[in-house]
Amino acid sequence: MRRPFIAGNWKMHKTVAEAVDLAVALKAALADVSTMDLAVCPTATALEAVSHVLARTNIGVGAQNMYWEDSGAYTGEISPLMAKELAAYVIIGHSERRQYFGETDTTVNLKLKAALRHNLTPIVCIGESLAQNEAGETVAFVGAQIRGAFAGIAQDDAQKVVLAYEPIWAIGTGRTAMPEDADRTIREAIRNVLCDLYDQATAETIRVQYGGSVKPSNMADFIVMPEIDGALVGGASLKVEDFAGIVKNAAAALKV
Ligand code: 13P
Repeated sequence: MRRPFIAGNWKMHKTVAEAVDLAVALKAALADVSTMDLAVCPTATALEAVSHVLARTNIGVGAQNMYWEDSGAYTGEISPLMAKELAAYVIIGHSERRQYFGETDTTVNLKLKAALRHNLTPIVCIGESLAQNEAGETVAFVGAQIRGAFAGIAQDDAQKVVLAYEPIWAIGTGRTAMPEDADRTIREAIRNVLCDLYDQATAETIRVQYGGSVKPSNMADFIVMPEIDGALVGGASLKVEDFAGIVKNAAAALKV
């Protein structure tokens, strides 16, 4: 049984004061949730303050990105050692980083290895564009992203990875994938490839979140799918009632 995991990706939103307010409100609203893992991923500038608010609570903290070297002349970057001081999770290879900041399957692989080396739990994002989806290339493309991300990663490390399947055309658009389609993509492009790279047990151990316009009203439809283990939530994670609603609706749908 994979433990459900719902995380909020706050992207480039919230000053430190705003981030603290949201974290304080989430801490109260979600205090009684014990049947799933929860995390929020603030901007780098708010990581320290939010990690203080959420210390010793049931809500983990994640960074949105990091570089793969431990230190050095890399202006503007934060290293895994720095992320680890403030966070337990790190998002790697979000489609916005691939689209706007030149990240590739190769850099994702380097960052994934760095996260695992430093005992950060990686949330690796994969997903196809609208054009790829319409051309019927989803399974081949996402499968190749998985092979690229996991290149050279040993089985015991692979089992620590969390994946987020986020079809790019569903991010921030209000347009979600059909739950059945997302479920089939996860099975065919992710679990089957992981089974090929490792084995069935590893493929079934790794948790896969769905991401893309998740809100309280659609969370249940996704979480009941056999291959979907939670969500990576963007816009709806910025409001306490929406994120709390997503978590509560997921718990109700799973009867946990
Ligand atoms: P939205 O929930 O705003 O569509 O964003 C999804 C996402 O990119 C989470 O990483």
